Amino acid sequence: MKSFIVSFLLLVIGLTSPITQASSIVTGEDGYRLWMKYDLLQNKSLRKAYQKQLTKWSVVGQSETSQIIRDELDYALSGLLGQSEPAGYRSANLVVVTGRLATRWIPDLGDELSKLGDEGYIIRQVEHNNKSVIVVTANTDIGALYGTFNLLRLVQTQTPLDAVDISSAPKTKVRVLNHWDNPDRHVERGFAGESIWDWHKLPHYKYQKYTDYARANASIGINGTVLNNVNADPIMLTPAYLEKVKALADLFRPYGLKVYLSIKFNSPATLGGLKNSDPLNPQVAKWWDKKIAEIYQLIPDFGGFLVKANSEGQPGPGDYGRTHAQGANMLADALKPHGGIVMWRAFVYANEKNEERSKQAYSEFKPLDGKFRENVMVQVKNGPIDFQPREPISPLFGATQETPMMMEFQITMEYLGFSTHFVYLGPMYEEVLKTDTYAKGKGSTVGKVVAGEVYDYPLTGMAGVSNIGSDRNWTGHIILQSNWYVFGRMAWDYNISAEQVAEEWTRMTLSNKSAVVKKVTEMMMLSHEATVNYMTPLGLHHIMGTGHHYGPAPWVDDLGRADWNPVYYHRATKGGIGFDRSPSGVNAVEQYFSPLKEQLADPKSTPEKYLLWFHHLPWDYKVKSSGRTLWDEIVHRYYLGVDQVAQISQSWDSLQGQIDPLQFKQVQMANTIHLKEAIWWRNACVLYFQTFSQRPIPPGLDKPQGTLDTYKAMEFPYAPGQGE
Ligand code: GCU
Repeated sequence: MKSFIVSFLLLVIGLTSPITQASSIVTGEDGYRLWMKYDLLQNKSLRKAYQKQLTKWSVVGQSETSQIIRDELDYALSGLLGQSEPAGYRSANLVVVTGRLATRWIPDLGDELSKLGDEGYIIRQVEHNNKSVIVVTANTDIGALYGTFNLLRLVQTQTPLDAVDISSAPKTKVRVLNHWDNPDRHVERGFAGESIWDWHKLPHYKYQKYTDYARANASIGINGTVLNNVNADPIMLTPAYLEKVKALADLFRPYGLKVYLSIKFNSPATLGGLKNSDPLNPQVAKWWDKKIAEIYQLIPDFGGFLVKANSEGQPGPGDYGRTHAQGANMLADALKPHGGIVMWRAFVYANEKNEERSKQAYSEFKPLDGKFRENVMVQVKNGPIDFQPREPISPLFGATQETPMMMEFQITMEYLGFSTHFVYLGPMYEEVLKTDTYAKGKGSTVGKVVAGEVYDYPLTGMAGVSNIGSDRNWTGHIILQSNWYVFGRMAWDYNISAEQVAEEWTRMTLSNKSAVVKKVTEMMMLSHEATVNYMTPLGLHHIMGTGHHYGPAPWVDDLGRADWNPVYYHRATKGGIGFDRSPSGVNAVEQYFSPLKEQLADPKSTPEKYLLWFHHLPWDYKVKSSGRTLWDEIVHRYYLGVDQVAQISQSWDSLQGQIDPLQFKQVQMANTIHLKEAIWWRNACVLYFQTFSQRPIPPGLDKPQGTLDTYKAMEFPYAPGQGE
C-alpha cells in the first residue's frame, strides 16, 4: 500500500512538474569554444594522413609559452585526430622549435628567420634522418605559438600538409582590441552582456575566461588589448586598480598579449591634486613620469596609453591652448624609457569650429604631421564620421608622411544592428583596406599606408573596438564571432580576402561539410551589403536613433549640436537628398588626393555606394547603374536589403540538421529579430523620405506598412550599450 501511495505521488509530481522531459535538457555547442572547437575530423582519410604527420610531437623549449604550445597541441590533436603523443624531439614527426636550433631540421635556414621578426614563423615539411618531419619555427616563443595556431588552423580547415611550406609575418606591429568597458562592467556600445573584466573580484579571482580570451587572441595574431573605455575613468590609474591590471597582464603575457590603458587627460588634476593638467606644466609631466614608472614597476612590458582628448567632452591639451602633438608628446616622453607607446585618437570634432564635421579630423591633424614623437601613432576611424554602415575612407590615410596613421575599426555593431543582425564585417574591412588613397600614386592603398609600406613609419597598427562581453558565446551572436576573427586575420595581413576568412572561420566554427561551408560563406559575404541597403543605401549615413543608435530615426532635428542630428546628414528637401561635400558644397573632397578628389567631386564618377555622401541630388536624378530615378533607386535598395535578409534567413533555415542544434537555434532566433528590424528600417525610412520626394512607391513593390507617426513614437530608453 505504502509503495502504491509513493508511486501515485511520483506519478502526480511527474505529470505536473515541468522538468521531467528528457528533451528539455539540451547539450551541444553553446559558442564558448569559438573557432577552437577541435572536434574529431570526420574526413577519415585526411585524419589518417594527419595522424601520421602530427601525432608524435615535440615542443623544444622551457618557457611558459612553450608549455602553452604543448597544452594547445595536446588538447587540439587529441580532439581533432583522436591521438596525441608527446615525444622526444628525435622521434617526433612534428617539432616546434625556436631560433637557431631549428637548423638541426632545416640546415639551409640562412637568414630566413631573422627576416620574419619577433612574431613571424615558418611551417615547413622537411626530410630529416630519412623521415618526414613538420617543423614550426620562429625567432621567439610567441612566434612559435602563432605558427602552431596556424598549423592547427590548417588541420581544422582540412588543408593537406604534404610539402607544407609557409612563412608568415605580421604586416602591422600593434594589433589591439579596444574594450570600451567601464569599471562598473557596463560596456559602452557593447551588446554581449557585461564587461568580461570583473574588476571587483580582481586581482585574486581570475576567471578561466580570461585565459581563453588570451588564447583566442593569440590564435589570430592579436598582440594587445586596451582594457578600458576611451571615455576613461581615472580610477584605472589608482594603485588598487593597477594591481588588477597587473593580474590580467601576468595572465596574458605568455600569449603575447600586451596590456594598454585608456587614460583621462586631466588625471594629474583629478587624481594627483595638481592645479591643472597642462602638458607644458613641468609638474604635470613629472606626475606622469611617476605614474608611468609605478605602472612599469608592476607591469614591465606594459604597452602604453590610448587617448581620447578634446573629443565629445573629454579633457585634453586644447583646454590649455596646447596642440594634440604637445599633449601626446608629453606622454610619449614619459613612456619612452620604458618602451611604451601612445595611441592618440583623431576622432575629434566640435560644433564651434565652423567647419563641416567630416573635415575636422584632417584639418586638425594634417598640419601636425612630423610634430609627434616616434612612439606616437594617431589612431583614426576608417571613415571621416563615425563607424557608419558604410563610409568612404578617412582622408587622413596617406596624408601624413611622418606620422603613422593607425587604423581603428569597430567590431562591435553600434550602428549595424547591435548583436541580433547577421552581419559579417570582413567585406567592409576589405573594402576600406583595398581603397586606393593615391598618396604616392596608384596602388597606395589604405592597407599599405597603415602597414607603413607607402611611408616608412616607425610604428604601425590596427585597433578593433571589441564586441566581446560576458555572454556565454562571447559576442552575443555566433556569427558575430567571425568579426573578432576577421579583424585579427586582417590586422596580421591586410591582403587576405574576406571570403577566404569567412570560409576558414565557418569550417572551424560551424562545419567542414562543403555544402554548409559554401552556403554560410555566401550568406556572410552578402550580409554587410544587405545591411547597408536596408539602413543607409547610396551613401546615406547617421540616421539612427538618438543616443543608443538603435533603429531608424532620420527625422530627428532637435539635438543640442547640429552635427548630431540625422537631418544634418541626409539633408532631404522637396528638391532632393544628400550632403553636398563636392566643391560646390563644403568641399570635403579637397582633402583627398587626385584623382580620387576629382572622381568624388562629380556625381557621375562618384561610386554609387557613396553618392549621397558627397552629393545633394534631385529626386529625379538618373542613377547610372539602373537607369532609375534617385527616388526609385533609394526605395528599391531599401526593399532589396529586406529581401537579402529574408534570403539569408531562409538559407540558414535550410541548414537545420547539418550543424549543431544549439548554434543553429541561436542564429535562427536572431534572424527572426533581424528580419523584423530590417523591415522596420525600410518602412520608417521610405515613409519618411517620401514626405519630401512626394513620389509613389515604384510599381512592383508593396506599400510600407505602418504610419510614420507610429515609427516616430517608438522609444527605447533601455536599449543596451548606451554611452554616458
Ligand atoms: C561614437 C560612440 C561613442 C564613443 C565615440 C568614440 O560616437 O557613439 O559611444 O565614445 O564614438 O569613438 O569615442
